[in-house]
Amino acid sequence: MNIQHNISLKPYNTFGIDVLAERFIEVNSIKELKEVLAREKDIFLLGGGSNMLLTKPMSKLVVHLNLIGIIVNDTDPNFVFVTAEAGENWHDFVLWCISQNYGGLENLSLIPGNVGTSPIQNIGAYGVEIKDIFYQLEAIEIETGLSKIFSLEACKFGYRNSVFKNEFKDKFIIVNVSFKLTKLNHKLNTSYGDITAYLKDKEVSIKSISDAVITIRQSKLPDPKIIGNSGSFFKNPVIATELFNQLQKEYATMPFYKISETEIKIPAGWLVEQCGFKGKRFGDAGVHEKQALVLVNYGNASGQEILNLATKIQKKIKEAFKIDLEIEVNIL
Ligand code: EPU
Repeated sequence: MNIQHNISLKPYNTFGIDVLAERFIEVNSIKELKEVLAREKDIFLLGGGSNMLLTKPMSKLVVHLNLIGIIVNDTDPNFVFVTAEAGENWHDFVLWCISQNYGGLENLSLIPGNVGTSPIQNIGAYGVEIKDIFYQLEAIEIETGLSKIFSLEACKFGYRNSVFKNEFKDKFIIVNVSFKLTKLNHKLNTSYGDITAYLKDKEVSIKSISDAVITIRQSKLPDPKIIGNSGSFFKNPVIATELFNQLQKEYATMPFYKISETEIKIPAGWLVEQCGFKGKRFGDAGVHEKQALVLVNYGNASGQEILNLATKIQKKIKEAFKIDLEIEVNIL
Protein backbone atom coordinates (compact mmCIF):
# COMPACT_ATOMS: atom_id res chain seq x y z
CA MET A 1 0.00 0.00 0.00
CA ASN A 2 1.46 3.30 -1.10
CA ILE A 3 0.19 5.82 1.48
CA GLN A 4 1.19 9.46 0.89
CA HIS A 5 1.31 12.00 3.73
CA ASN A 6 0.07 15.60 4.07
CA ILE A 7 -1.42 15.88 0.60
CA SER A 8 -3.41 19.02 -0.30
CA LEU A 9 -6.95 18.10 -1.36
CA LYS A 10 -7.36 21.32 -3.39
CA PRO A 11 -7.05 19.55 -6.79
CA TYR A 12 -9.49 16.84 -5.67
CA ASN A 13 -12.58 18.95 -4.81
CA THR A 14 -14.42 21.17 -7.29
CA PHE A 15 -14.88 23.89 -4.64
CA GLY A 16 -11.07 24.19 -4.69
CA ILE A 17 -10.79 24.22 -0.89
CA ASP A 18 -7.22 23.80 0.34
CA VAL A 19 -7.18 21.35 3.25
CA LEU A 20 -4.63 18.66 4.01
CA ALA A 21 -5.18 14.93 4.10
CA GLU A 22 -2.88 13.46 6.74
CA ARG A 23 -2.83 10.19 4.78
CA PHE A 24 -3.87 9.65 1.15
CA ILE A 25 -3.96 6.60 -1.10
CA GLU A 26 -4.75 6.13 -4.79
CA VAL A 27 -6.69 2.92 -5.53
CA ASN A 28 -6.71 1.53 -9.09
CA SER A 29 -8.63 -1.74 -8.78
CA ILE A 30 -11.27 -3.46 -6.65
CA LYS A 31 -8.53 -5.81 -5.46
CA GLU A 32 -6.48 -2.85 -4.16
CA LEU A 33 -9.60 -1.39 -2.56
CA LYS A 34 -10.25 -4.64 -0.71
CA GLU A 35 -6.62 -4.69 0.49
CA VAL A 36 -7.08 -1.20 1.94
CA LEU A 37 -10.37 -2.19 3.60
CA ALA A 38 -8.77 -5.29 5.14
CA ARG A 39 -6.41 -2.98 7.05
CA GLU A 40 -8.48 0.13 7.65
CA LYS A 41 -12.22 0.71 8.06
CA ASP A 42 -12.30 4.37 9.07
CA ILE A 43 -11.67 5.80 5.62
CA PHE A 44 -12.88 8.78 3.62
CA LEU A 45 -13.74 7.94 0.05
CA LEU A 46 -12.98 10.55 -2.57
CA GLY A 47 -14.58 10.32 -6.01
CA GLY A 48 -14.94 13.36 -8.25
CA GLY A 49 -15.10 15.69 -5.21
CA SER A 50 -17.97 17.60 -6.80
CA ASN A 51 -20.55 17.59 -4.03
CA MET A 52 -18.58 18.35 -0.90
CA LEU A 53 -17.39 21.27 1.18
CA LEU A 54 -14.20 20.55 3.12
CA THR A 55 -14.11 22.62 6.30
CA LYS A 56 -11.23 20.99 8.18
CA PRO A 57 -8.14 18.80 7.64
CA MET A 58 -8.89 15.13 6.95
CA SER A 59 -7.63 12.86 9.68
CA LYS A 60 -9.14 9.72 8.16
CA LEU A 61 -7.26 7.83 5.44
CA VAL A 62 -8.42 9.46 2.18
CA VAL A 63 -8.98 6.85 -0.54
CA HIS A 64 -9.06 8.21 -4.07
CA LEU A 65 -10.98 5.79 -6.30
CA ASN A 66 -9.48 5.55 -9.74
CA LEU A 67 -11.49 2.71 -11.29
CA ILE A 68 -11.81 3.18 -15.06
CA GLY A 69 -13.63 1.28 -17.81
CA ILE A 70 -16.94 0.82 -19.63
CA ILE A 71 -18.59 -2.52 -20.45
CA VAL A 72 -21.51 -2.87 -22.87
CA ASN A 73 -24.08 -5.67 -22.83
CA ASP A 74 -25.85 -5.47 -26.17
CA THR A 75 -28.11 -8.52 -26.47
CA ASP A 76 -31.56 -6.89 -26.35
CA PRO A 77 -33.07 -5.49 -29.58
CA ASN A 78 -34.24 -2.23 -27.96
CA PHE A 79 -32.05 -1.58 -24.94
CA VAL A 80 -28.38 -1.68 -24.12
CA PHE A 81 -26.97 -2.19 -20.63
CA VAL A 82 -23.88 -0.08 -20.05
CA THR A 83 -21.72 -0.50 -16.95
CA ALA A 84 -19.24 2.24 -16.09
CA GLU A 85 -16.57 2.02 -13.40
CA ALA A 86 -16.87 4.50 -10.53
CA GLY A 87 -13.87 6.63 -11.51
CA GLU A 88 -15.13 7.46 -15.01
CA ASN A 89 -15.80 11.19 -15.40
CA TRP A 90 -19.58 11.66 -15.60
CA HIS A 91 -19.73 14.09 -18.51
CA ASP A 92 -17.19 12.14 -20.62
CA PHE A 93 -19.31 9.03 -20.02
CA VAL A 94 -22.49 10.86 -21.13
CA LEU A 95 -20.77 12.08 -24.31
CA TRP A 96 -19.45 8.59 -25.05
CA CYS A 97 -23.00 7.14 -24.75
CA ILE A 98 -24.33 9.81 -27.11
CA SER A 99 -21.56 9.04 -29.61
CA GLN A 100 -22.72 5.39 -29.59
CA ASN A 101 -26.35 6.56 -30.07
CA TYR A 102 -27.35 5.24 -26.63
CA GLY A 103 -30.19 7.40 -25.30
CA GLY A 104 -31.21 8.41 -21.78
CA LEU A 105 -28.33 10.40 -20.30
CA GLU A 106 -28.40 13.45 -22.62
CA ASN A 107 -30.29 15.74 -20.19
CA LEU A 108 -27.61 15.03 -17.59
CA SER A 109 -24.77 16.44 -19.72
CA LEU A 110 -22.05 18.55 -18.08
CA ILE A 111 -22.84 17.61 -14.47
CA PRO A 112 -19.50 17.65 -12.61
CA GLY A 113 -18.23 14.57 -10.79
CA ASN A 114 -17.71 10.88 -11.45
CA VAL A 115 -20.02 7.98 -12.29
CA GLY A 116 -19.54 6.36 -8.88
CA THR A 117 -20.98 9.22 -6.89
CA SER A 118 -23.86 10.00 -9.25
CA PRO A 119 -26.38 7.62 -7.58
CA ILE A 120 -25.68 8.87 -4.04
CA GLN A 121 -27.67 12.04 -4.56
CA ASN A 122 -29.66 10.77 -7.57
CA ILE A 123 -28.25 13.54 -9.78
CA GLY A 124 -30.85 15.30 -11.87
CA ALA A 125 -31.31 18.15 -14.31
CA TYR A 126 -33.73 19.37 -16.96
CA GLY A 127 -36.50 16.91 -16.14
CA VAL A 128 -34.40 13.73 -15.83
CA GLU A 129 -32.89 11.99 -12.81
CA ILE A 130 -30.47 9.11 -12.72
CA LYS A 131 -33.22 6.85 -11.37
CA ASP A 132 -34.97 7.09 -14.79
CA ILE A 133 -32.19 5.14 -16.57
CA PHE A 134 -30.56 3.34 -13.64
CA TYR A 135 -30.33 -0.46 -13.83
CA GLN A 136 -28.13 -1.55 -10.90
CA LEU A 137 -24.88 -0.84 -9.11
CA GLU A 138 -22.14 -2.81 -7.41
CA ALA A 139 -20.80 -1.63 -4.06
CA ILE A 140 -18.26 -3.00 -1.60
CA GLU A 141 -19.32 -3.12 2.04
CA ILE A 142 -16.67 -1.34 4.11
CA GLU A 143 -17.14 -3.53 7.18
CA THR A 144 -16.86 -6.92 5.41
CA GLY A 145 -15.10 -6.13 2.11
CA LEU A 146 -17.87 -8.05 0.35
CA SER A 147 -19.48 -7.06 -2.92
CA LYS A 148 -23.22 -6.37 -3.10
CA ILE A 149 -25.55 -5.57 -6.03
CA PHE A 150 -28.17 -2.85 -5.49
CA SER A 151 -31.25 -2.84 -7.73
CA LEU A 152 -33.28 0.29 -8.54
CA GLU A 153 -35.67 -0.46 -5.65
CA ALA A 154 -32.83 -1.13 -3.19
CA CYS A 155 -31.36 2.35 -3.87
CA LYS A 156 -34.59 4.08 -2.70
CA PHE A 157 -34.01 7.10 -4.94
CA GLY A 158 -35.72 10.41 -4.11
CA TYR A 159 -35.12 14.09 -4.95
CA ARG A 160 -31.32 14.43 -4.50
CA ASN A 161 -31.53 11.42 -2.20
CA SER A 162 -30.86 7.67 -1.94
CA VAL A 163 -30.18 4.91 0.56
CA PHE A 164 -26.48 5.96 0.43
CA LYS A 165 -27.32 9.30 2.08
CA ASN A 166 -29.39 7.59 4.78
CA GLU A 167 -29.20 4.09 6.28
CA PHE A 168 -26.12 3.09 4.23
CA LYS A 169 -24.28 6.41 4.58
CA ASP A 170 -20.52 5.64 4.83
CA LYS A 171 -21.25 1.90 4.80
CA PHE A 172 -20.62 1.07 1.11
CA ILE A 173 -18.26 2.09 -1.68
CA ILE A 174 -19.88 2.16 -5.11
CA VAL A 175 -17.49 0.59 -7.62
CA ASN A 176 -19.58 0.54 -10.80
CA VAL A 177 -23.00 1.63 -12.04
CA SER A 178 -25.12 0.06 -14.81
CA PHE A 179 -27.62 1.98 -16.91
CA LYS A 180 -30.42 0.74 -19.15
CA LEU A 181 -30.24 2.94 -22.24
CA THR A 182 -32.24 3.00 -25.47
CA LYS A 183 -30.83 2.03 -28.88
CA LEU A 184 -33.99 2.87 -30.83
CA ASN A 185 -37.05 5.03 -30.13
CA HIS A 186 -35.24 7.27 -27.67
CA LYS A 187 -37.47 8.75 -24.98
CA LEU A 188 -36.62 12.41 -25.52
CA ASN A 189 -37.39 14.84 -22.69
CA THR A 190 -37.60 18.42 -23.94
CA SER A 191 -40.26 19.62 -21.50
CA TYR A 192 -37.96 22.04 -19.66
CA GLY A 193 -38.61 25.60 -20.85
CA ASP A 194 -35.01 26.56 -21.68
CA ILE A 195 -34.54 23.37 -23.71
CA THR A 196 -37.76 23.86 -25.68
CA ALA A 197 -36.59 27.38 -26.54
CA TYR A 198 -33.10 26.22 -27.64
CA LEU A 199 -34.51 23.44 -29.84
CA LYS A 200 -37.05 25.62 -31.63
CA ASP A 201 -36.33 25.22 -35.39
CA LYS A 202 -33.73 22.49 -34.69
CA GLU A 203 -33.95 18.74 -35.20
CA VAL A 204 -34.62 17.04 -31.85
CA SER A 205 -32.17 14.21 -31.10
CA ILE A 206 -30.15 12.98 -28.12
CA LYS A 207 -27.21 14.99 -29.50
CA SER A 208 -29.17 18.23 -29.91
CA ILE A 209 -30.66 17.87 -26.41
CA SER A 210 -27.17 17.36 -24.99
CA ASP A 211 -25.98 20.45 -26.92
CA ALA A 212 -28.92 22.42 -25.49
CA VAL A 213 -28.12 21.34 -21.93
CA ILE A 214 -24.43 22.16 -22.36
CA THR A 215 -25.27 25.63 -23.73
CA ILE A 216 -27.79 26.36 -20.94
CA ARG A 217 -25.52 25.11 -18.17
CA GLN A 218 -22.54 27.06 -19.52
CA SER A 219 -24.63 30.24 -19.61
CA LYS A 220 -25.87 29.92 -16.00
CA LEU A 221 -23.50 27.76 -14.02
CA PRO A 222 -19.84 28.52 -13.25
CA ASP A 223 -17.21 26.10 -14.60
CA PRO A 224 -15.48 24.62 -11.52
CA LYS A 225 -12.17 24.61 -13.41
CA ILE A 226 -12.39 28.42 -13.45
CA ILE A 227 -14.39 29.31 -10.29
CA GLY A 228 -14.60 26.76 -7.49
CA ASN A 229 -18.14 25.54 -6.75
CA SER A 230 -20.27 22.47 -6.04
CA GLY A 231 -23.30 23.22 -8.21
CA SER A 232 -26.50 23.85 -6.31
CA PHE A 233 -25.51 24.44 -2.70
CA PHE A 234 -29.07 24.18 -1.35
CA LYS A 235 -32.01 21.93 -2.20
CA ASN A 236 -35.15 23.52 -3.59
CA PRO A 237 -37.44 23.60 -0.53
CA VAL A 238 -40.86 21.96 -0.47
CA ILE A 239 -43.38 24.00 1.54
CA ALA A 240 -46.97 23.55 2.69
CA THR A 241 -49.72 24.99 0.49
CA GLU A 242 -50.91 27.29 3.34
CA LEU A 243 -47.51 28.97 3.61
CA PHE A 244 -47.33 29.18 -0.19
CA ASN A 245 -50.73 30.92 -0.36
CA GLN A 246 -49.62 33.46 2.25
CA LEU A 247 -46.34 34.16 0.42
CA GLN A 248 -47.99 34.42 -2.97
CA LYS A 249 -50.12 37.33 -1.77
CA GLU A 250 -46.93 39.27 -1.13
CA TYR A 251 -44.78 37.86 -3.97
CA ALA A 252 -47.07 37.41 -6.96
CA THR A 253 -44.18 36.51 -9.30
CA MET A 254 -42.70 33.79 -7.10
CA PRO A 255 -41.93 30.75 -9.34
CA PHE A 256 -43.23 27.38 -8.04
CA TYR A 257 -43.85 23.74 -8.98
CA LYS A 258 -46.83 21.90 -7.56
CA ILE A 259 -45.72 18.60 -5.99
CA SER A 260 -49.07 17.45 -4.58
CA GLU A 261 -52.32 18.94 -3.24
CA THR A 262 -50.52 19.89 -0.02
CA GLU A 263 -46.95 20.62 -1.15
CA ILE A 264 -45.26 23.18 -3.38
CA LYS A 265 -41.59 23.34 -4.40
CA ILE A 266 -39.99 26.79 -4.57
CA PRO A 267 -36.70 27.43 -6.43
CA ALA A 268 -34.13 28.22 -3.75
CA GLY A 269 -32.23 30.39 -6.26
CA TRP A 270 -35.19 32.75 -6.43
CA LEU A 271 -35.37 33.01 -2.62
CA VAL A 272 -31.63 33.72 -2.34
CA GLU A 273 -31.91 36.36 -5.07
CA GLN A 274 -34.90 38.02 -3.35
CA CYS A 275 -32.82 38.36 -0.19
CA GLY A 276 -30.24 40.36 -2.14
CA PHE A 277 -27.40 37.83 -2.14
CA LYS A 278 -27.09 37.19 -5.88
CA GLY A 279 -23.62 38.19 -7.12
CA LYS A 280 -22.52 39.26 -3.60
CA ARG A 281 -18.98 38.58 -2.50
CA PHE A 282 -17.58 38.31 1.04
CA GLY A 283 -13.81 37.97 0.72
CA ASP A 284 -13.28 34.99 -1.58
CA ALA A 285 -16.67 33.41 -0.75
CA GLY A 286 -19.59 34.46 -2.91
CA VAL A 287 -22.96 33.83 -4.49
CA HIS A 288 -22.79 33.26 -8.25
CA GLU A 289 -23.95 36.22 -10.31
CA LYS A 290 -26.09 34.19 -12.74
CA GLN A 291 -27.54 31.47 -10.48
CA ALA A 292 -28.03 32.38 -6.83
CA LEU A 293 -28.29 28.72 -5.80
CA VAL A 294 -24.58 28.25 -6.42
CA LEU A 295 -22.00 29.39 -3.85
CA VAL A 296 -18.53 30.01 -5.24
CA ASN A 297 -14.91 30.17 -4.13
CA TYR A 298 -13.13 33.00 -5.95
CA GLY A 299 -9.72 31.61 -5.00
CA ASN A 300 -8.68 31.13 -1.42
CA ALA A 301 -11.93 30.92 0.55
CA SER A 302 -11.85 28.38 3.37
CA GLY A 303 -14.63 25.85 3.72
CA GLN A 304 -15.65 27.58 6.94
CA GLU A 305 -16.03 30.93 5.13
CA ILE A 306 -18.31 29.32 2.54
CA LEU A 307 -20.28 27.65 5.32
CA ASN A 308 -20.61 30.96 7.22
CA LEU A 309 -22.06 32.55 4.09
CA ALA A 310 -24.50 29.64 3.72
CA THR A 311 -25.63 30.05 7.33
CA LYS A 312 -26.15 33.79 6.80
CA ILE A 313 -28.32 33.05 3.74
CA GLN A 314 -30.35 30.38 5.58
CA LYS A 315 -31.02 32.82 8.44
CA LYS A 316 -32.14 35.60 6.13
CA ILE A 317 -34.48 33.30 4.19
CA LYS A 318 -35.99 31.95 7.38
CA GLU A 319 -36.69 35.52 8.57
CA ALA A 320 -38.08 36.74 5.26
CA PHE A 321 -40.05 33.67 4.07
CA LYS A 322 -40.35 31.34 7.10
CA ILE A 323 -38.67 28.69 4.91
CA ASP A 324 -35.85 26.37 6.04
CA LEU A 325 -33.24 25.96 3.30
CA GLU A 326 -31.53 22.59 3.42
CA ILE A 327 -27.90 22.29 2.30
CA GLU A 328 -27.43 19.88 -0.60
CA VAL A 329 -23.65 19.38 -0.55
CA ASN A 330 -21.91 17.24 2.06
CA ILE A 331 -20.23 19.33 4.74
CA LEU A 332 -17.07 17.66 5.99
N1 EPU B 1 -34.12 31.64 -10.24
C1 EPU B 1 -34.04 32.95 -9.82
N2 EPU B 1 -32.81 33.44 -9.47
C2 EPU B 1 -31.67 32.69 -9.54
C3 EPU B 1 -31.76 31.36 -9.95
C4 EPU B 1 -33.00 30.84 -10.30
O1 EPU B 1 -35.03 33.66 -9.77
O2 EPU B 1 -30.61 33.22 -9.23
C5 EPU B 1 -35.42 31.11 -10.69
C6 EPU B 1 -35.41 30.98 -12.21
O3 EPU B 1 -35.85 32.13 -12.83
C7 EPU B 1 -36.41 29.86 -12.44
C8 EPU B 1 -36.23 28.99 -11.22
O4 EPU B 1 -35.60 29.80 -10.22
O5 EPU B 1 -37.72 30.34 -12.44
C9 EPU B 1 -35.46 27.72 -11.48
O6 EPU B 1 -34.14 28.00 -11.86
P1 EPU B 1 -33.26 26.95 -12.72
O7 EPU B 1 -33.97 26.55 -13.93
O8 EPU B 1 -31.89 27.53 -12.88
O9 EPU B 1 -33.20 25.63 -11.83
P2 EPU B 1 -33.03 25.40 -10.24
O10 EPU B 1 -34.30 24.88 -9.70
O11 EPU B 1 -32.45 26.61 -9.62
C10 EPU B 1 -32.37 22.87 -10.42
C11 EPU B 1 -31.26 21.97 -9.94
C12 EPU B 1 -30.01 22.15 -10.81
C13 EPU B 1 -30.38 21.81 -12.24
C14 EPU B 1 -31.54 22.73 -12.69
C15 EPU B 1 -32.06 22.38 -14.06
C16 EPU B 1 -31.65 21.68 -7.54
C17 EPU B 1 -31.18 22.00 -6.16
N3 EPU B 1 -30.95 22.24 -8.54
O12 EPU B 1 -31.93 24.21 -10.22
O13 EPU B 1 -29.04 21.21 -10.36
O14 EPU B 1 -29.27 21.96 -13.11
O15 EPU B 1 -32.66 22.60 -11.78
O16 EPU B 1 -32.77 21.17 -14.01
O17 EPU B 1 -32.60 20.91 -7.70
C18 EPU B 1 -27.12 20.83 -9.01
O18 EPU B 1 -27.79 20.02 -8.36
O19 EPU B 1 -25.90 21.03 -8.74
C19 EPU B 1 -27.73 21.59 -10.10
C20 EPU B 1 -27.08 22.56 -10.73
